[in-house]
Amino acid sequence: MRAFYDRFAGTAYGGDYNPEQWPREAWDEDVRLMAEAGVKLVTVNVFGWGLLEPEEGCYDFGWLDEVMEHLDRHGVAVDLATGTASPPAWMAARYPDSRPVSETGVRAAFGGRAQFSPSSPVYRRAAGRLVEQLASRYSGHPALAMWHVGNEFSGVSYDEGSAQAFRSWLARRYGTVEALNEAWGTRVWAQHYTSFEHVPAPGVAPSELRNPTHRLDFTRFTSDALLDCYRAEVEILRRHTPDTPVTTNFMASYKPLDYWAWSEVGDVVSLDSYPDPADLEAVVEAAFAYDLARSLGGEPWLLMEHAVGAVSWREVNVPRPPGQMRVGSLQAVARGAAAVLAFQWRGTRHGAEKWHSSLLPHAGTATRTWREVTGVGRELASLPATALGRVEARVALVLGYDSWWACEQGNLPRQPRYLEELLEVYRVLWARDIPVDIVAPGAPLQAYDVVVLTQLYLADDTAIDTWNEFVNSGGHLVATFCTALVDETDTLRGPGYAPELADLAGLRISEIAPQREGAVLVVECPACDQTHTASTWLDVVEPAGAAVLARIVDGPHAGDPVALRRTVGFGAITYLTTKLDATGLGHLLVQVCDAAGVHVPPPTPQGVETVSRRSPSGLETVFVLNHADAVASVRLRPGGRDLLTGRPLGTELELAGHDCVAVRYPPAITDEGPRR
Ligand code: GAL
Repeated sequence: MRAFYDRFAGTAYGGDYNPEQWPREAWDEDVRLMAEAGVKLVTVNVFGWGLLEPEEGCYDFGWLDEVMEHLDRHGVAVDLATGTASPPAWMAARYPDSRPVSETGVRAAFGGRAQFSPSSPVYRRAAGRLVEQLASRYSGHPALAMWHVGNEFSGVSYDEGSAQAFRSWLARRYGTVEALNEAWGTRVWAQHYTSFEHVPAPGVAPSELRNPTHRLDFTRFTSDALLDCYRAEVEILRRHTPDTPVTTNFMASYKPLDYWAWSEVGDVVSLDSYPDPADLEAVVEAAFAYDLARSLGGEPWLLMEHAVGAVSWREVNVPRPPGQMRVGSLQAVARGAAAVLAFQWRGTRHGAEKWHSSLLPHAGTATRTWREVTGVGRELASLPATALGRVEARVALVLGYDSWWACEQGNLPRQPRYLEELLEVYRVLWARDIPVDIVAPGAPLQAYDVVVLTQLYLADDTAIDTWNEFVNSGGHLVATFCTALVDETDTLRGPGYAPELADLAGLRISEIAPQREGAVLVVECPACDQTHTASTWLDVVEPAGAAVLARIVDGPHAGDPVALRRTVGFGAITYLTTKLDATGLGHLLVQVCDAAGVHVPPPTPQGVETVSRRSPSGLETVFVLNHADAVASVRLRPGGRDLLTGRPLGTELELAGHDCVAVRYPPAITDEGPRR
């Protein structure tokens, strides 16, 4: 990646560029204005397949050759997409089986994009041929900086070809049909199979309730099938251009793909992020997505797409207010991004996205948008994102895709909304500016002092061993209800509920008691001398070695424990039996951080986000981002200088709405104390 980063003075800036939608005359204006805006990197050919291969096997690279040369002449590097995200019309017409089929059995038509079934051999072969052509043609081209495989891989298909591929996947996973029967619990409703050949894709069935492990495995299979498509392209590209980095753009907080597995394949993680300007909470979700991107690939990662103003796919497409694109860009850099790219360079006049904002707006350069775009370009050029160093997190939040998939299939005592529950914990940590990494279940935890498991419904033995080891060696684990209830086959871990986790936590769960919508439990916490509320779920537990920190005050569950703590080995585990309100959760997490020796920064005004990055030489850059409309008064450590403006800063900062600073501090002389 080094050679890639070295092409850009500071943080790479740019966006999707679709010159094929414009007459040749516009291209000269494009490069002139790109220079004015500081755009140094563009993504080309995302949807170019139909133009590159207008008829099956007939290729025409003329226009792309011209684009590559034109951009190179003007010093703009290319993130060259393989174009395989959307197959051409001839494929859809000649090979209808290449188009995906919905769960209800409807085959998708041509006329949108991404109309391919992930398992279609026709699609895979044709995509491979196109990528071979592209890779050999542009290998060594001076404009080529990076390969961009497909676009936002997504989609699922229930067609017969996919069902066949699913059966092969199952045969590889289980070996024998008996093992599949065991894993899927097919004695229930006498669903047992005598041959893999009888297993269908889990389409709509007469009863709402379907075999959950069948469905879970189909989701796993689909993530793997798409990953095979990605991997196949990466292999071709690496064969031709071993030194050119490869990526594919992930989507923020996207459920259907196991990004832990996906992030192993490319060279760098890149992410698309479209926080809703109309929703103040969206900045927290964006922060979470950026922490996830950083955690998936290690620093740095690339913001591959965001919007300059409004998108065009919401019910109401509210534009970003002045300054928000700038603050949003720096929010990504603060959390580890080394590139900030937008969809798209020039606002298009045609098609489904003609109302989408762009770096070069429809209304031209005499606009406040263009002023903001060029201003951000200047700032990013002066911000050496790769040299800013690491976001140092000592707290980790565990994200399990299988848990997410399994717990939202229905059939649970109360249906969780996995990501929202995770975000509630994240939000509390975000509000206190506590840096967080996101980790996979079973991932090594030595780098952390506090680890939080939030409704991690599904856990395998490896994950459970990791938690035991973490706590015994001095870590502080926080686990909530609805964690480790089932194993990787979605079978209850037993006897008892979550037996291994309960053992570790020093308690026994005797009953699971979901709370009806709107029911509120009042909770008393003698340790913090406060009363909180709780809702949604209650594990009725009996302590077996754990100390009770908080209890329910009244009602049928009066006296039942809400929070329990057990010291184990050199560490401790805190178990939450119910969903505490944000204040209660905040108190508890801050208390755990304090006990674990994790620094909790002083509170900042609402809407203000503070993130610190530290370089190997100890230089610290603290990003202070005001997401709110109102001016915020922020206290700073003395001795800082704003990297964006160069001006020295005092200890009191009046930060305007949608404004931000990047405060640079020299290496600290203080000793932060030994790490575990
Ligand atoms: C992304 C997609 C882009 C464009 C953008 C609009 O999801 O990758 O091609 O459609 O959305 O917001």
